[in-house]
Amino acid sequence: MKIFLDSADIDEIRELNKTNFIDGVTTNPSLIAKSGRNILEVIEEICSIISGPVSAEVTATDHKTMMLEANKFLNLAKNVTIKVPLTSDGLQTCKALSDKGVSVNVTLCFSPSQAILAAKAGASFISPFVGRLDDIGQNGLDLIYDIVEIYNNYNFKTEVLVASVRGVHHIVESAKIGANVVTIPAKTFKEMYNHPLTDNGLKSFLSDWKETGQSIL
Ligand code: G3P
Repeated sequence: MKIFLDSADIDEIRELNKTNFIDGVTTNPSLIAKSGRNILEVIEEICSIISGPVSAEVTATDHKTMMLEANKFLNLAKNVTIKVPLTSDGLQTCKALSDKGVSVNVTLCFSPSQAILAAKAGASFISPFVGRLDDIGQNGLDLIYDIVEIYNNYNFKTEVLVASVRGVHHIVESAKIGANVVTIPAKTFKEMYNHPLTDNGLKSFLSDWKETGQSIL
């Protein structure tokens, strides 16, 4: 399973990239707004830190302007993935770009039928939002299960990129279902390391070790 960081914060991207576990980055207009910086500068900087795909989201709602925005992003770096919303214009843009070999991430997916259209439009990634479905009382992970099953049935090459992740349980369940990628905030990435028994076990190992008076080095 690939792990992408869902962030436009350069400092945290740089810090977590040192772990060597970060396979890519996703951004969205809200994360760019939170960064307080120019979108083109932020995307270019992230692409210089991360060697994997970096999703840059268009903000136009019509196909023609989406294409213009996509071309701006594509001029920034080789590892830019164009992120488009799951609308009719977004899918038209996805098809036009993917036909030219451009990597496209179709975002704001909330149903299996939307995911079928994204795959048919040649998307490299589909981004179903699990947390936002949970927020309205549905089980977001059911959507991941459905999309993985459908994509497997037809051997679609589109990768299932689980987004709107709210905790480690979303990552683990997505991995069990067979999703290709999770995109997660820095906080959730750090939580992947945690287990109280690891902390307690290490504490007691170190205390017993101290009693021996030995040193390995
Ligand atoms: O980047 C898309 C997605 O991960 C947003 O998540 O937490 O705003 O629902 P969230």
